[in-house]
Amino acid sequence: MNHPILKIENLNFAFNKDKKILSDISFSIEKGSLCIIAGANGSGKSVLLKCIKGLLKPNSGNIIINNKNLSSNLKDRRRKIGLVFQDADSQIIGQTVEKDILFGMENLQLDSTTKQRKLLEVSTLLSLNDKLKTKPHHLSGGEKRRLAIAGILAMNPDIIFFDEPFANLDYPGVIQVLSTLLLLQKEGHTIIIVSHEIDKIAAHSQKIILLEKGKVLMEGESNIVLPHLRNHGVYVPLLDNKIKKIEELTWLNH
Ligand SMILES: Nc1ncnc2c1ncn2[C@@H]1O[C@H](COP(=O)(O)OP(=O)(O)O)[C@@H](O)[C@H]1O
Ligand SMILES: [Mg+2]
Repeated sequence: MNHPILKIENLNFAFNKDKKILSDISFSIEKGSLCIIAGANGSGKSVLLKCIKGLLKPNSGNIIINNKNLSSNLKDRRRKIGLVFQDADSQIIGQTVEKDILFGMENLQLDSTTKQRKLLEVSTLLSLNDKLKTKPHHLSGGEKRRLAIAGILAMNPDIIFFDEPFANLDYPGVIQVLSTLLLLQKEGHTIIIVSHEIDKIAAHSQKIILLEKGKVLMEGESNIVLPHLRNHGVYVPLLDNKIKKIEELTWLNH
């Protein structure tokens, strides 16, 4: 039976005392699901991801992973949560695709057989195996984002966060990344996507959490939350056409 892999309880965060950025955020995420955190620019989505991952320190609240309260256990939290940043370039550091994928694993003290096995596994899964010797800056936008994903995946996180995975991609790039996200879910990963480009992913998600001004306004099944997004700063372009059902809202051919 499914159980929440991630539970957030009453999370609060402020950069300074006068201005709260996140207020009493609570939600839960089922293991193996693909979930979207939606909200207008500035609603607190990226700050929320950084708080959960352990890059920013919440003022209060609980972060529970697999029934274990890891609120004050930064080391485990960082290990269990993979975060793919909005800007793939900032995440890519290796001189070649191969070195970049290996880089994240270096800190984990894995033996070299395991590292090579993981390298082969993730580069095959993300169709980068014929590009291992390529310099990352020669990759297309979609390939770069796949490389950033590969590096995270190699570290075997329990949950993977994606911050605006479709930003600055052309059409083929969007399709590549979208297919990758769906593939990862099929492989059993739990995926949380922060985006204001909901039309690309809504039909493939199980849950949408709507943030407004640092508060959870709605949390529920995607088809139920979707019609409410527009009134809260999240525009869904395809809904202007004749689309009536969430299943029709896809960028992939059936
Ligand atoms: N380093 C920072 N210092 C002060 N304020 C910040 C910082 N980063 C983000 N903010 C503010 O926090 C709020 C939420 O930002 P963010 O989480 O990046 O929004 P988004 O939903 O667009 O990802 C915004 O008002 C933003 O201006
Ligand atoms: Mg953001």
